[in-house]
Amino acid sequence: MAQVTIPSNVPEQYKPGWQGSTDRKMAGQMQENIPGHQHSMLDAPLDDVLLNGEKYKGSGKLKGKNAVITGSDSGIGRSTAILFAYEGASLLLHYVKEEQKDMDNLVTYLKENSPSTQVHTVAADLSNKEECHALAEKAKEVFNGRVDILFNNAGTQNEVESILDLSDEQWEYVFKTNIHAIFYLTKALIPLMPWGSSIVNNASINPFVGHPKLVDYTSTKGAIVAFTRALSNQIVKERGIRVNAICPGPILTPLVVATMGKESLESFGVTTSIGRPGQPVECATCVVFLASNDSTYVTAQMIHVNGGSPY
Ligand SMILES: NC(=O)c1ccc[n+]([C@@H]2O[C@H](COP(=O)([O-])OP(=O)(O)OC[C@H]3O[C@@H](n4cnc5c(N)ncnc54)[C@H](O)[C@@H]3O)[C@@H](O)[C@H]2O)c1
Repeated sequence: MAQVTIPSNVPEQYKPGWQGSTDRKMAGQMQENIPGHQHSMLDAPLDDVLLNGEKYKGSGKLKGKNAVITGSDSGIGRSTAILFAYEGASLLLHYVKEEQKDMDNLVTYLKENSPSTQVHTVAADLSNKEECHALAEKAKEVFNGRVDILFNNAGTQNEVESILDLSDEQWEYVFKTNIHAIFYLTKALIPLMPWGSSIVNNASINPFVGHPKLVDYTSTKGAIVAFTRALSNQIVKERGIRVNAICPGPILTPLVVATMGKESLESFGVTTSIGRPGQPVECATCVVFLASNDSTYVTAQMIHVNGGSPY
């Protein structure tokens, strides 16, 4: 087939085959620490730069809305925080203490790029039920009892080749962090959410694919898909709160470089039809859509933010 020329304004990260700017590519960016840190990634993920090379421009889609975002210091959560700010929302940004530097960087970025945005931050380990409740209390306090948008984004994973080596501790920790936390937080915040509010959960394409090295993580993400559908069917008519999820494919974030092995990183994203990993901003635009009045007849649905085929 004839090769079509890619316009010169398209950033390298959006071109098929891109897997990192250095010859070490993604496999050369592996981090030892979990959660991963965005500030030490060699290739900073794109937060707000679109395929045409321009910065995302807000148009007041979330003006006057109060939004809670978990795991917002890096990756998809960070990019969503930035786009929500551009769209006029006030923010409660959750992070874990180990990621103070990433959160400080985000707050500085928001001050410089969206100075009128009201930004609150709160640290919590969401694998702990009491800390989920403390986060909900903080939301109640900073937003005077009204939350319009909840983005349940935080999550963890760790590749293990065989179920025989998957420890009970890891299985339980991943369930506590990825799905129990969503239950505790959502349950605590629903009473604060007025008619017309939106809950968006971050699932994954993995429950539809069945990632062989992420049996625990994939199981929690399947639970998030099921939770999303069932909760929407329970509350949307009575309370007017829509519940949806995004299901990202391979997206360049700290989670990936901190938790995946060399083999997975070498093929990360390039085996999709688009032929590259996704950028966090490509998920964040979908979260803005689900959080805003652009999607008022969309509920119990999953948006697959994926480049066209399994990894
Ligand atoms: N990057 C991908 O390819 C991909 C694909 C599918 C789904 N996702 C999902 O996207 C979400 C965001 O991840 P990301 O890829 O942007 O990476 P990330 O590392 O930037 O974000 C994960 C966030 O979860 C937080 N977190 C981890 N353990 C926690 C705990 N115990 N308590 C509180 N917070 C905790 C981290 O601090 C971090 O802020 C996750 O739910 C992940 O499963 C990512």
